[in-house]
Amino acid sequence: GFTIPIAPADAQPERQQPSKLDECRRCELWQYATQAVPGEGPKRAQIMLVGEQPGDQEDLAGKAFVGPAGKLLDRVFEAADLERRAIYLTNAVKHFKWEPRGKRRLHKTPVQREIEACGYWLEKELATVKPTVIVALGATALKSVLGNGNAKLAESLGKAIRHEGRWVVTVYHPSYILRVPDEEAKRQAFNVMVEGLKLAKQLLE
Ligand code: URA
Repeated sequence: GFTIPIAPADAQPERQQPSKLDECRRCELWQYATQAVPGEGPKRAQIMLVGEQPGDQEDLAGKAFVGPAGKLLDRVFEAADLERRAIYLTNAVKHFKWEPRGKRRLHKTPVQREIEACGYWLEKELATVKPTVIVALGATALKSVLGNGNAKLAESLGKAIRHEGRWVVTVYHPSYILRVPDEEAKRQAFNVMVEGLKLAKQLLE
């Protein structure tokens, strides 16, 4: 007779180097997400925008920035006179991290371990796209781009800093602007984003 080799029930699968994003097991977030959401845009782009992670709608669609944050970004691009299709859009973390809240899936901020695990994919994108300017949207993106879990948004907001031969411009995350309750404060935060993107554009000249 023959025996079929069966792995013991508690065997841990070997951590393989995933070649495809959607097969990534570098952290645990894949288990709860519908799919990984890849970056999108020109294979070579002068500006790369880095968000935090896909939201609920991005997770379902498999496309970055198609939900409310993406709609706000479209308004920012228009105000800064930039074409969305000229910009490479991606996220620091490629799987949606969430917790149930009633019938809704509530966004949870990724932790540093998850940001670092997913940095593998951002590095690949940087090596291919070779942007001159990276625009970091919010603290998670900034931590990822700088490879520094202690990076503080307030210290870099609205500024261009040099990092590994590239410019990094930091602005608010669009979801933050959507949450600002006061209309005047919202308008100001929106303007910080517009000015940040204008600055990114100037750095190309
Ligand atoms: N927020 C992000 O940071 N990225 C998306 O793709 C959508 C919402």
